[in-house]
Amino acid sequence: MKRRREIEWRVYPPKKKPFAFSNGDDVLVKSKDGKTTYRGKIRLEDLLQAKQELKKAATDEEQLSNPGSKDQATNCDSKATPAVDGRSSFSPKSSSNVSVVLSKDQTVLQLSKKEQSRRLLPSFALQTPNIVVTPETNFFRILAKQVTAEDRVLEIGCSTGETSKLLVPPNSASWVGLDTSEQMMEQCKTTIGKKRWNEDTCHVTVVDALVDPIKAKQECTIHGAVTVVFIDIGGNRECIGVLRMLSWVLETFDQHLRLIVVKSRELAQSIQASASVGEGTGLVENGNEWFAKHRKKRAFPKHPLKAPMATSPKGMPICRYYNYHKEGCSKADCPYDHEYCHFCLKQGHIARNCPTLIDDDDTTVVLDSPEVVVEKETKKS
Ligand SMILES: C[S@@+](CC[C@H](N)C(=O)[O-])C[C@H]1O[C@@H](n2cnc3c(N)ncnc32)[C@H](O)[C@@H]1O
Ligand SMILES: [Zn+2]
Ligand SMILES: [Zn+2]
Repeated sequence: MKRRREIEWRVYPPKKKPFAFSNGDDVLVKSKDGKTTYRGKIRLEDLLQAKQELKKAATDEEQLSNPGSKDQATNCDSKATPAVDGRSSFSPKSSSNVSVVLSKDQTVLQLSKKEQSRRLLPSFALQTPNIVVTPETNFFRILAKQVTAEDRVLEIGCSTGETSKLLVPPNSASWVGLDTSEQMMEQCKTTIGKKRWNEDTCHVTVVDALVDPIKAKQECTIHGAVTVVFIDIGGNRECIGVLRMLSWVLETFDQHLRLIVVKSRELAQSIQASASVGEGTGLVENGNEWFAKHRKKRAFPKHPLKAPMATSPKGMPICRYYNYHKEGCSKADCPYDHEYCHFCLKQGHIARNCPTLIDDDDTTVVLDSPEVVVEKETKKS
């Protein structure tokens, strides 16, 4: 399987507010009335300077009372938190104020702890691609603020357009909305409104990427490579549909993606329950590993018929026995599709050997169910 760029996984919002920021972090700052959002960077120099002054004062004091202790005193570390990545990190407890330098005119804002909770949001994925999972629609819509005027946005499950109206230009460079319902598509256009609708930069269409991935890709890239994807395809019971959609997005748009936002209560809860998540950052430790394992666990059903029905790109229901039973399909004249993978909908393999579900270093995938053990085909040279 091809190696992907390192992706950071996050759950939004993190458990603790204010968020934990590090020096140089990109942030979004809301104006006092909450109507405008500005981009900026956290600056902790003031804090560091204050600490250095404190340290110096302490050293001087110690020098006065104990002249032989100079080296010891200088080697002694200050209370600054050691940085994970070389930056010094800001812990809300260590100071109540934080400075933000606004990108538009370099103005420096000093925010108290209370104002940080109210006005400061992390800005995801300007350096590293991020997948942000959120359990609720209101947070999903707050995350629309992460989009920049340079982004080409894809929204999967645009529904009545309540999030779409926050994602369309001028908030982005372009926007494509997908939904499986014709009625929703029409409603979405109405919500966005004629004034904001621009034929050159807005496009909405009825297509299910899990049923017709080729048409979906064409529709999605109509304005160029997608940089940001918002996924909300409903259904909180079963996140397998969300996982399949996410796999399709990663496989299809990998190179240019900088941010994927997923609304799924079940996925957010699974991450919180089974991965290690930073309380102030929402950052998931080893997120990619967690995802690969979780996807495998969810993708392989305990019984083939527990897998959701899926239709091949040719419109035929895909045989779930053929894809998931260790002995395959026993019907000689099976009327269902045996050509396409039930998980990724590509031809040439079954779900049990799907490259999107099996890592390079795995030879055997041991699953939940004792009777389903998948032997990965070893390449014959
Ligand atoms: C909960 S709504 C989305 C709400 C929207 N995010 C908002 O903020 O108003 C889910 C939508 O996903 C659509 N949907 C379900 N499965 C889909 C799929 N496979 N591809 C595209 N859209 C899908 C449904 O028709 C529905 O309109
Ligand atoms: Zn069959
Ligand atoms: Zn596959």
